[in-house]
Amino acid sequence: MLKLMNLTKIYPGVKALDAVCLSVKDGEVHALLGENGAGKSTLIKLIAGAVQPDGGTICFDDRVYERMTPQTAREEGVAVIYQELNLCEPLTVAENIFLGRPQGRLYSQKKLNALAQEILDEYGFVLSPKARVGDLSPAQQQLVEICKAISNEAKILIMDEPTSSLASQEVTLLFNVIAKLKAEGVTIIYISHRLDEVFEISDRVSVLRDGQYVTTLNTADTDRQQLVKLMVGRELSDAYPQRTWKPGVCLLQVEHLSGNSVEDISFELHAGEILGFAGLVGCGRTETAQLVCGAKKADSGSIRVHGKPVKIHSPVDAIAHGIGLIPEDRKEQGCIQFASVTFNTTLICKDKFCTYGVINEKKRRAVAQQYKEALNIKVPSLNQAVINLSGGNQQKVVVAKTMAADLEIVFFDEPTKGIDVGAKQEIYQLINAMASEGKAIVMISSDMEEILGMSDRIIVLYEGRIAGELSRDQFSQENILTLASGMEVSAK
Ligand SMILES: Nc1ncnc2c1ncn2[C@@H]1O[C@H](COP(=O)(O)OP(=O)(O)OP(=O)(O)O)[C@@H](O)[C@H]1O
Ligand SMILES: [Mg+2]
Repeated sequence: MLKLMNLTKIYPGVKALDAVCLSVKDGEVHALLGENGAGKSTLIKLIAGAVQPDGGTICFDDRVYERMTPQTAREEGVAVIYQELNLCEPLTVAENIFLGRPQGRLYSQKKLNALAQEILDEYGFVLSPKARVGDLSPAQQQLVEICKAISNEAKILIMDEPTSSLASQEVTLLFNVIAKLKAEGVTIIYISHRLDEVFEISDRVSVLRDGQYVTTLNTADTDRQQLVKLMVGRELSDAYPQRTWKPGVCLLQVEHLSGNSVEDISFELHAGEILGFAGLVGCGRTETAQLVCGAKKADSGSIRVHGKPVKIHSPVDAIAHGIGLIPEDRKEQGCIQFASVTFNTTLICKDKFCTYGVINEKKRRAVAQQYKEALNIKVPSLNQAVINLSGGNQQKVVVAKTMAADLEIVFFDEPTKGIDVGAKQEIYQLINAMASEGKAIVMISSDMEEILGMSDRIIVLYEGRIAGELSRDQFSQENILTLASGMEVSAK
């Protein structure tokens, strides 16, 4: 039903798409894979008419277009859930769902809410149509995006990494939605870096590498290893890097911290340790990190660094005490999108290139260059604005920014969100290297394998409180899920 012929898109310094040919069959779930910067999102934007190609055509059945407009794309039944959320925060869930459509203008609030409620109920999403979108968590916002797209009676629904901010429960919910839509005859193009999802839901899978089309396979005829090889161009080991943890001195003690929807949080963090925070979305993992890192204010409780009580009222205070945060929402909280890669990378490490308040631009660029290489950030120039980078490469810049600051205690909130398989390994190695230098890491992740593979110890939260702690010999998916749903893990 959809055929792309020789689609080409050139940005200054990069050929984002190089004569890509691809066809999508009616009613299938077609997965699109590729490393960060391979051109997946660009391809989607061309189909949706959000950007214009430099060559090639887009055909729907026998209708051939050299240029797409958002209007034509919509008329052809294309609906897109973009990689970065596009919601209007001051508006309600219902208003967002119907934004830009006649219902949004013609109907009363009451009718709009009722309509939105119907959609939410139909797909089993627990959300109030009257809630302000700005007050929702990223995962809940993602659900609103999904509603917005599916309520449009799409013929082709394109999802660009819809699960990157979802935990397993919501992913199941989304997969039910996909199954339902597929049964109704909707064609789905699905982008994800989580390969197990691709095997679970897709019929066929296409791979892009460096802007070029590699191949399309029946999902049933391929395996993980082959796909990784097609994407990365080499074999990758699956294993998490091995470490032998020797607990060092206690760097951070958090005692009875409450506020920001969490209550009575106490834990210790040691030099050289990677502590995992697990739990369902909204259980208080991010909220705890925000309190310790000064992004939100605590109502009560205390924090000690190196045994000394400290007062943290802002991120600046936290950084001064050697505590940093890599936030979950990179677009809103992690970087300044219109500023350059250099500016963002060196945002909090001014000691490295600044003397008596004077910036040494050469040194500053050198720092940025060093982290660009260490994290293999794909960008033609360090002067490029972060907003022009692919999603995964933006995430790498946010990680680079915190790493460059040489902080002793770092909270990573979903550090591999949107990061491809190869780059994930690079980030794991960097986190491990930090730990082996004696730094202390807290890692928040909804990726079960990742949290089990990386952590020395795991704290599981449930409804804003610590539900339990697991040591390495108790590590299992089952134990995490048990604690995460508010039940007790039976003693071994
Ligand atoms: N507006 C832009 N200006 C300049 N370069 C751009 C722009 N948009 C994308 N690019 C470049 O085009 C290439 C492809 O980017 P794209 O976002 O399509 O990658 P992707 O496959 O979606 O990656 P990811 O998995 O990281 O989301 C990248 O090198 C990116 O830097
Ligand atoms: Mg992308």
